[in-house]
Amino acid sequence: MLNAAAKVNLVLEVLGKREDGYHELATVMQAVDLSDKLTLEDADVLELQCGVPGVPTDGANLALKAATALREAAGITRGARITLDKRIPVAAGLGGGSTYAAAALVGLNRLWRLRWSVERLEQVATGLGMDVPFFLHGGRALATGRGERIERLRGSSLGLVLVNPRFAVRTAEMYGRVTPEAYTDGRHAKTLASGFGGRTAARVAASLYNGLQETAVAAYPPIGRIRAALLAAGALGALMSGSGPTVFGVARSFEHARQIRRRMTRGAWDCWAVRTLNGPAIRTLG
Ligand code: C5P
Repeated sequence: MLNAAAKVNLVLEVLGKREDGYHELATVMQAVDLSDKLTLEDADVLELQCGVPGVPTDGANLALKAATALREAAGITRGARITLDKRIPVAAGLGGGSTYAAAALVGLNRLWRLRWSVERLEQVATGLGMDVPFFLHGGRALATGRGERIERLRGSSLGLVLVNPRFAVRTAEMYGRVTPEAYTDGRHAKTLASGFGGRTAARVAASLYNGLQETAVAAYPPIGRIRAALLAAGALGALMSGSGPTVFGVARSFEHARQIRRRMTRGAWDCWAVRTLNGPAIRTLG
């Protein structure tokens, strides 16, 4: 069994649009302890089971895509039965699809006895989605390029509150709405990555930035209401994660995060108090 943790983006800067249609990013990603669970067993064919609505169980599923891509890259014909216990909300800005894709790569590397290095797995990961390479590392990292170039950062442990409004947002739609006025030069990511912005909860809260947030709030007003509610409940700072719609609040400690979460549970929103993870996002259990 594997544990596949979610992420938040403490900073997400859009630097510009690339010729390949993607956007050039500078983002600080942080793994958090809200996780999906994956079980992998030997089988003749590749198949996936998951009972959660909105998660495809056919070839469109990212874990199956990961398995197929790894099998092809390794030139083997093995199968696997993948069971996905989904806890991270889908299309939420928390990397829920990318983390189980990374877990499938890590788990199948072992099950199929490939002994591939992380660097070799990264090449397959990038083909699956730009967030997937980050999850092969975990902790806190600066991601640049399309998000696939990873540089590990040291991060202090934080207590966060995640709030999801129970609707999904498509990443491609959100990037499609971005206009050049939202482009920035990477200074927010640099501040946090330099260590100066990342030492205490208050400094992290003061360094939060997401270039997609304004556009997202205009299109989906509940995102703005959640931010206001988190700040009113005592969060030191609040920001939309990735392309949304999940918003996270920074607390003084994990205990404080639990306090904020208790104050937040009145609305029609899902809330979690979580700790940031300094270690790997993908862990093998038992
Ligand atoms: O890499 P991933 O498949 O997760 O990206 C989903 C979509 O988000 C892309 O198809 C693209 O529209 C958008 N995107 C982007 N620039 C990036 C990453 C993603 O425009 N750096």
